Amino acid sequence: MAMPTIADAVKQAASSLSSHTESPRLDAQLLLGKVLGLSRTSLIARGDEVLGQEAERQLTGLISQRAHGVPLAYLTGSREFWSLPLSVTPDVLVPRPETECLVQQALDLMPGEICSVVDLGTGSGAIALSLASERPGWRVTGVDVSAQALAVAARNARALELSVTWRLGSWLDAVPGERFDLIVANPPYIADSDPALLKLTAEPALALTSGPTGLESLALIIAQAPQHLLAQGWLVLEHGSTQASAVTQLLWQHGFSAVRTFPDLSGKPRITLGLHTTQGTL
Ligand SMILES: C[S@@+](CC[C@H](N)C(=O)[O-])C[C@H]1O[C@@H](n2cnc3c(N)ncnc32)[C@H](O)[C@@H]1O
Repeated sequence: MAMPTIADAVKQAASSLSSHTESPRLDAQLLLGKVLGLSRTSLIARGDEVLGQEAERQLTGLISQRAHGVPLAYLTGSREFWSLPLSVTPDVLVPRPETECLVQQALDLMPGEICSVVDLGTGSGAIALSLASERPGWRVTGVDVSAQALAVAARNARALELSVTWRLGSWLDAVPGERFDLIVANPPYIADSDPALLKLTAEPALALTSGPTGLESLALIIAQAPQHLLAQGWLVLEHGSTQASAVTQLLWQHGFSAVRTFPDLSGKPRITLGLHTTQGTL
């Protein structure tokens, strides 16, 4: 039997993925590109070349994992966020495009070149690294309770030659005695019993869930934040689309003002921020 060409293999792989992903052809190209070490453009240009047996075997394995719901980014090992190529492993959440809205809000709030910011639950470092890339003068700290996640974030910082201080620990307990102009966080916010979790089994539970209501981590961060913000400092939070009013209430309860919610890319209320006007005692 004739060996398949690269173009045949893409076609076949795309057809196997057609009922499993929204972008079967793109996924097939990216996975074969990973196997052959080729960009999509090169893959298309070399479509007539015969695919070797070993490459075919590796592609079959990757297609099977993709069909079983493993995120594409875990299989290719990378994901672009804020135009930065980030390494991702199953130890970190795959950064979502929606989170770029949080980065944009943070940059809009703080137009100056000097700012101290902490990214709580940094995961792959997506938010911290985006801010560091946009504002080289900022002092950026990234916190995570997962040592494995911080290792991925630190690897990304080295690869991108960006300067971020990484701290291992739980939320603001990881930065005792420190105050910031800006605190940003995309914490876990899915309720333990939410059926949406069934579709997210490949990603770390620590990155997704925080308790029975899903508001537990958000509430903890909001309660801790006044003790770690400078006067006129901002707290910017990503949350679930049904949590905006609960997050707003919590911010008011903890003395925040100028509380506002912004939509994500699909128009859902997903980013809420609040201003801390006075500096309390630690
Ligand atoms: C939703 S993910 C966000 C990852 C990344 N910031 C992003 O937006 O792609 C939440 C992150 O919070 C971390 N996390 C969970 N509990 C934590 C805690 N108590 N203290 C610090 N980080 C925590 C998880 O390990 C995970 O990396």
